[in-house]
Amino acid sequence: MLETEILGMKLSNPLFLAAGILGTTASSMRMVANAGAGGIVTKSFSIEANDGYENPTIVKIEGGVINSVGLASPGVEAKKEELKELNDIRDKTPVIASIYGNSEEVFTDVARQTKDYVDAFELNVSCPHAQCGYGSNIGEDPDLTYNIVKSVTSSIKDVPIIVKLTPNVLDITEIAISVQKAGADGLTLINSLGPGLRIDYKTGHPILNNKFGGIAGPMIKPIALKCVYQTYDAVDIPIFGVGGIKDYKDALEFLYAGASLLQIGTSIMYEGPQIFSKISQDLEAFLEENGYSNVSEIIGLSHRL
Ligand code: DHB
Repeated sequence: MLETEILGMKLSNPLFLAAGILGTTASSMRMVANAGAGGIVTKSFSIEANDGYENPTIVKIEGGVINSVGLASPGVEAKKEELKELNDIRDKTPVIASIYGNSEEVFTDVARQTKDYVDAFELNVSCPHAQCGYGSNIGEDPDLTYNIVKSVTSSIKDVPIIVKLTPNVLDITEIAISVQKAGADGLTLINSLGPGLRIDYKTGHPILNNKFGGIAGPMIKPIALKCVYQTYDAVDIPIFGVGGIKDYKDALEFLYAGASLLQIGTSIMYEGPQIFSKISQDLEAFLEENGYSNVSEIIGLSHRL
């Protein structure tokens, strides 16, 4: 009922671990796979190791969190070792590497060095508070994004390239179309919103060490859904929907809007990794009760009503 095959990945269910949560070490990714995730997206990494920001890096808000980890990650050499350790689960639970950089060369080099150990790449051109030259500085500009994606797709032919977009643009379809033209195989919509700020009401100090961070969790779901819905009409490549999914009803909304695959991040902090099997079971029960025989039948349904 939930089995799908997409971008060469055979999946037991369409629910992936989103980038940024539990995706740093092989052991935490294995734990999420064992908890029933259909696939894994790693925490973003690049060529060089990066300590990221000092704590606090995450703070609660109504309906979600603001986080600013600063793209903390081991460099590509260390990450390769973690990825190698996951080789035995990739048949059942594909692994997508989220990578970041500040130039065509860096993105392409990281992809080249790790392509034998992953099932796809997700290019993070959309971190909302990354230093200048990284993150949404790239993803807000269709030409910069095109050049980076084109460079990666021109040199990596045998591993699918997915691009994660920022919602912080006037027209997300413009960026999506430019990414498709650059040869990308799929899109992930959306990265976190913002950046946003929280201040300690007692002291007046900004709470996060970096002050500003990406807004994630259920409060961004309506924006994520809108982005998926609009983009579905504008491109032909598959879309990963992400942004505030906490139960099967949210998952259904993203599928109806046009997402073929889904990612779960912030809600793991509240529900634990068992959220994957819970949503899978509930989604399967819903599909069965409503006379569907496979989840693919409802993808984009809202556009056909
Ligand atoms: C971070 C990176 C992201 O892409 C994001 O959306 C939020 C936070 C980070 O590493 O700080």
